[in-house]
Amino acid sequence: YHIDWDEASAEKGGYKHFMLKEINEEPEAIESAFVGRITNEGPILTELKEFNLEKVEKIKLVACGTSYHAGLVFKYFLEKHSNIDVEVDVASEFRYRNIHIDDKTLVIAISQSGETADTLESVRLVKSKGARVVAISNVVGSTITRESDVTILMNAGPEIGVAATKTYVNQLVVLYILGMYILKEQNMWNEEVEKDFEFLKKAPEIFRKLLNDINLEEYAAYYKNYHHFMYIGRGINYPSALEGALKLKEISYINATAYPAGELKHGPIALLDPTFPVFAIAPKDRLFEKTKSNIEESKARKSRIISVTNESNKDLEGISDDIIYVPDSPEDMYPLTISPVIQLFAYLIADMRGYDPDKPRNLAKSVTVE
Ligand code: G6P
Repeated sequence: YHIDWDEASAEKGGYKHFMLKEINEEPEAIESAFVGRITNEGPILTELKEFNLEKVEKIKLVACGTSYHAGLVFKYFLEKHSNIDVEVDVASEFRYRNIHIDDKTLVIAISQSGETADTLESVRLVKSKGARVVAISNVVGSTITRESDVTILMNAGPEIGVAATKTYVNQLVVLYILGMYILKEQNMWNEEVEKDFEFLKKAPEIFRKLLNDINLEEYAAYYKNYHHFMYIGRGINYPSALEGALKLKEISYINATAYPAGELKHGPIALLDPTFPVFAIAPKDRLFEKTKSNIEESKARKSRIISVTNESNKDLEGISDDIIYVPDSPEDMYPLTISPVIQLFAYLIADMRGYDPDKPRNLAKSVTVE
């Protein structure tokens, strides 16, 4: 019996690519993000003890790429449960805008690598205006951690694949914890948030089962030959559409675009035909019926539909050609469980198309130039 062995495959822990290995590390990554933060008294971020979070009225969040998408999830979550306005911007725009800071404003800068040029310049800009900056990063000692007032480390462990996977999941996890901690400090904690928190605590187990059970190979084999993809979602699931499309285009080079489902009819629906499938992020939440109508509209243009929804929701059967199920969860938490689905879908398609998902062309893991 002979096993091929070389240093590279050993580093990948038996997986074909780092990306696949890193997706499969998500349960442990989440557990690492929990340490010291998920307690019997609720979510705690000791890093922010001195930050007077009870006074925050506005949050400006700045990031690039996948980190920006994590920021959008935070906005939907926190605005739903509080009176805080959360503005999210890509760093390359933010740094050239006239940003208004007052003593009720908190700035959050998210950068997995901690070295992204535009995000760092954004931090410098707001610091010069007297803002307090919380960084969220995966790299201890990175520039962003040195230049910000405080850092929440996401503790995902090293990520080699260029496309962010477990760091995206951990960004979501620390942002949920941060959001919940702010709600606690502002006395805005409610029953729904309590349920979100209970679900979050179980996320490592839920991810383990999901990653073990999920099989997207047939779907990937079918969809890999399309040249276009339209990702849609609403509310807190819209960022998942953006992230799904980004993953697909960056590693499989398929033209994928994402829209809030309700925007389809304002232009992009003109693109839809049998050559242009729709990937609908459609768990059963309070906006589900609206998203379902958008799926039906897409179907009427003869687009093939692949949806991701929660396992007890059978309302897409007969409407969606293919359906991927994730576990039921409180509606705020679907961005978490949907992450590995959109990541694996893109991974498998890239691999089946013969590309190396770890080293996509024209991209770098950390972009230190403007
Ligand atoms: C690069 C990577 C993206 C990443 C973005 C932001 O463009 O290819 O995957 O999301 O940078 O990176 P950061 O390290 O700041 O989170």
